Amino acid sequence: MDRSVLVTGASRGIGAAVAHAFAAAGDRVAVHYGSSSEAAAMVLKELPGSGHVLAHADLADPDAIRVMVDDAASALGGIDVLVNNAGVYHPHRIREASYDEWQQAWADTLAVNLVGPANVSWCAVQHMGRGGRIINVSSRGAFRGEPNQPAYGASKAGIVSFTQSLARALGPEGIAVTAIAPGWTTTDMAAVHLTGEGYDRRRLESPLERVAAPSEVAAAILYLASPEAEFATGTVLDFNGGSHLRM
Ligand SMILES: NC(=O)c1ccc[n+]([C@@H]2O[C@H](COP(=O)([O-])OP(=O)(O)OC[C@H]3O[C@@H](n4cnc5c(N)ncnc54)[C@H](OP(=O)(O)O)[C@@H]3O)[C@@H](O)[C@H]2O)c1
Repeated sequence: MDRSVLVTGASRGIGAAVAHAFAAAGDRVAVHYGSSSEAAAMVLKELPGSGHVLAHADLADPDAIRVMVDDAASALGGIDVLVNNAGVYHPHRIREASYDEWQQAWADTLAVNLVGPANVSWCAVQHMGRGGRIINVSSRGAFRGEPNQPAYGASKAGIVSFTQSLARALGPEGIAVTAIAPGWTTTDMAAVHLTGEGYDRRRLESPLERVAAPSEVAAAILYLASPEAEFATGTVLDFNGGSHLRM
């Protein structure tokens, strides 16, 4: 295909794999990053195809987001697909965090994981027409609870609700909006939880006795962005190896 694709948080992990998957499919990708400029430049350099660009913004900064999205749209010639992938996962246990730490964790997490994607979506939609796609990266934690990162769980539940609202708002314009809710995936974010004894315990949460690779999550996101997936709009794809099953 030859689509213009903006992937947030593409400097590392799942986002880097998503950028690679779209580029390999023939699309042009804006590789967004926050602070990892060298890693993002490396991702860009290694993408197959041509016409890819870097895009920088702190997702907690609404003004920076607007400039970043407008610049990406003019470099790519519009935005056909937005993948809201960037996220943070800060621990803030209710019995351990001070009240100040608790408030900071909630403010930081909601800013990047929920309000950030809402702002990126608003800006991207200004450049998006019929056939457009927005894919929001939620988490298994939205449905299972996050005892040590409750703001993260809430932000990821919020993004599912946002997906539903946007699907209904933009469906009449031919834009489909979906979410994916991965389980444990081997990235920097999960690294501390996927080492030593913790790794075995977590991989055994899945009947497949393993965790996901970023490329697997990316392949699912590529499908959700496809023309064939239009009718999935408003839904969330559980992608957790059967580690948390629900009706
Ligand atoms: N890994 C898992 O087990 C797992 C499971 C379920 C869901 N997820 C979700 O999948 C998504 C990707 O996670 P990952 O595991 O790939 O994480 P990761 O390896 O930690 O990468 C996070 C990405 O988000 C970007 N980012 C973080 N804060 C930012 C900010 N303030 N402004 C701009 N960019 C920011 C980072 O960019 P810079 O480094 O350039 O700042 C980086 O590219 C997240 O939404 C996460 O919640 C992950």
